[in-house]
Amino acid sequence: MATININGQDHQLDVEDDMPLLWAIRDIVGLTGTKFGCGQALCGACTVHLDGTPIRSCQTLVGDVAGAAITTIEGIGGKVAETVQTVWAEMDVPQCGYCQSGQIMSAVALLSETPKPTDEDIDSAMYGNLCRCATYHRIRGAIHESARRLEA
Ligand code: FES
Ligand code: FES
Repeated sequence: MATININGQDHQLDVEDDMPLLWAIRDIVGLTGTKFGCGQALCGACTVHLDGTPIRSCQTLVGDVAGAAITTIEGIGGKVAETVQTVWAEMDVPQCGYCQSGQIMSAVALLSETPKPTDEDIDSAMYGNLCRCATYHRIRGAIHESARRLEA
């Protein structure tokens, strides 16, 4: 039995401590916005926030997140997240969309830490989020536009 806090709500889960957090989020709690890509911390599709920091939930164990606040794409809110999601939609960033919840989680964490990121900051923060549709150019543009709007 593990108790994990997801999007501000405690969930008591009858699972082994060594279950990947991604399975708990998707299969047990039923929040399917967080995606499975590689299962090996290589693609970023499964990115969630752990106390505000982006982590790969496929390589994080349920037993290791007790007492921490997990936030998924369904639970992000506040000015930065809302701005990013608005800009993402307006600039038509997604193509197939599969990687995009992970991209947004990393982008929100970046802008929360670094309100005016350079291209290098963006490349560094987003490096682990792969996109098979190659939307990287639009992602970078959307992060810059989000920063501009948040500054205004
Ligand atoms: S599914 Fe976790 S990094 Fe790819
Ligand atoms: S939008 Fe298709 S994988 Fe990124």
